[in-house]
Amino acid sequence: MEKLEIIGGNRLYGEISVCGAKNAAVAIIPAALLVEGVCRIENVPDIKDVQLILQMLVHLGAKVNKIDVSTIEIDASELRTHVAAYDMASRMRASYYLLGALLGRLGKAEVALPGGCNFGQRPINLHEKGFRAMGAKVATVRGQVIATAEELHGNSIYLDTASVGATINIMLAAALARGRTVIENAAKEPHVVDVANFLNTMGANVRGAGTDVIRVNGVEKMYGGVYSIIPDQIEAGTFMLAAAAAGGNVLVKNVIPRHMDSICSKLEEMGVKVTEYDDSIRVERDGEIHGVRIKTRYYPGFPTDMQPQMAALMTTAVGESTITEDVWDNRFQYIGELQRLGADIRVEGRSAIINGGPLYGAPVRATDLRAGAAMIIAGLAAEGKTVINDPYYIDRGYSNIEERLRSIGARIERVYEV
Ligand code: EPU
Repeated sequence: MEKLEIIGGNRLYGEISVCGAKNAAVAIIPAALLVEGVCRIENVPDIKDVQLILQMLVHLGAKVNKIDVSTIEIDASELRTHVAAYDMASRMRASYYLLGALLGRLGKAEVALPGGCNFGQRPINLHEKGFRAMGAKVATVRGQVIATAEELHGNSIYLDTASVGATINIMLAAALARGRTVIENAAKEPHVVDVANFLNTMGANVRGAGTDVIRVNGVEKMYGGVYSIIPDQIEAGTFMLAAAAAGGNVLVKNVIPRHMDSICSKLEEMGVKVTEYDDSIRVERDGEIHGVRIKTRYYPGFPTDMQPQMAALMTTAVGESTITEDVWDNRFQYIGELQRLGADIRVEGRSAIINGGPLYGAPVRATDLRAGAAMIIAGLAAEGKTVINDPYYIDRGYSNIEERLRSIGARIERVYEV
């Protein structure tokens, strides 16, 4: 059995580089199914979720060639089937992008209902609403979502919630559809823009990504090309908060500072020194920081995927902090684990109230991906040894996390027990 062991109390110093964005990669890789030609994709993070989605593409008949640790080539000119491997698809969230991509390319798709981190209800009704508006029939039979269309046509689709997944999935289905698709109340997250840029590089015509209204003019065919994925906003934020929680002076490299605004401004409000450069951010903490209030929001608001890591940092601040979770119904499962380390936290409805104080190492679980990142941050700040018992979740979204954190002075080891 694998575990991560952390000895807390070491300050962090040095430079750490951020990988490509997970939530862009897991959408761009399925998007390559729309392309009849070779897509060369650079800055791909070497994480479990990417390995899984690549295996799903191979099962569908695409040729995947790994050029080096962060570069792949995908050739989906010939596909073997429109039915995704059930076991793999049901294990991850982003498998839902195979629906939009296969529907767009082949006019039919069968993909298991998605899995992924459990934050309460995670419906895909808005994805389905979009596909239906474009002329598809969609049904769920024995756990399998089946979508078919004689011919997909553009339409105007209003999203009741600015869903990242629905926005991207409709863009994928619309890229090769007849006519123009307009997505209103679209998600504006950086990875939505990145997927649109990828599609355009491969010959699609997507306009307005990053605003509330995205217009996709369907094209006949998409060709190959070369694309580099943006840096991961959430990985960058995780490293910044690790430095803030442990104390020290760390330069986080390969970031797009504009994507980090909501995180930087909260750190500064807490008393952490943040200096932005062209493509890096320095985080310095020396001494006390104080409690703040955050509310998770869609971009450019404070990202829900930084909420657990922020809770871990707040446990090291003087005074009271409050988190209100506005995106997911139930994203506080990790709080019981922070309490094992001695954190003073209570949950009231959609809010968590945190009073800073000392943390003491203990065995904990990573209840999901970002919860796992929060356990690492808390473990770095705690006195003594913290053991994270199921690092699998962390490996889904962070590449080689222990070695990279060790490079800035963290005492963290992966141990294997029989
Ligand atoms: N929603 C609906 N109907 C839908 C889709 C979403 O009601 O058809 C609701 C959800 O229940 C939720 C809200 O809309 O309340 C936002 O969901 P969204 O669709 O934006 O989330 P997602 O696409 O399933 C992605 C990320 C998550 C991240 C959210 C929010 C991927 C693979 N996942 O999920 O990332 O929390 O956007 O930003 O891109 C993570 O990386 O740790 C992670 C969980």
